[in-house]
Amino acid sequence: MVNHDYQIIAKNYDLAGRASSRIKKYLKTQNISKRLLKRICSASFEAEINVVIHSYGGYATFDHQSDKIMIDFYDDGPGIADIALAMTEGYSTATPLDNRNGFGAGMGLSNIKRCTDELEITSTIEGTHLKLTFYLGEENV
Ligand SMILES: Nc1ncnc2c1ncn2[C@@H]1O[C@H](COP(=O)(O)OP(=O)(O)OP(=O)(O)O)[C@@H](O)[C@H]1O
Ligand SMILES: [Mg+2]
Repeated sequence: MVNHDYQIIAKNYDLAGRASSRIKKYLKTQNISKRLLKRICSASFEAEINVVIHSYGGYATFDHQSDKIMIDFYDDGPGIADIALAMTEGYSTATPLDNRNGFGAGMGLSNIKRCTDELEITSTIEGTHLKLTFYLGEENV
């Protein structure tokens, strides 16, 4: 079992993606199919960027177990008021600055949903928690 923690800093576009690239670097040393690797990396990148651009900052925890990989993203708010609306493709509250940095198409959460085997989202004004689960095994690629 391998555990890692990564800090995610709000509004820092230079460091945006750092946690997910570290996760990718680790996963490349593991016996994981290319397709699953791609799913995990896409989902964790989108979740990380959301913490950078939409929250006051937070962290991710990475947990590699024998049968699954779990990645949790926690932030300090302001939360997602309407999760169903936020999941809608094309819905975004991103700023023009986010757009100039290449973010804000409103596709991240739906992409995360598509890439994960399980996705749990809980959110209050105190913060948002995304739990991403990927099952390991030859049949799951
Ligand atoms: N961690 C978060 N904290 C607060 N609001 C969030 C968070 N993640 C997502 N949201 C809200 O949900 C909306 C949709 O998120 P989604 O990731 O789908 O799109 P986006 O981040 O706006 O654009 P894209 O991901 O395509 O760059 C965001 O615009 C934002 O309003
Ligand atoms: Mg996003």
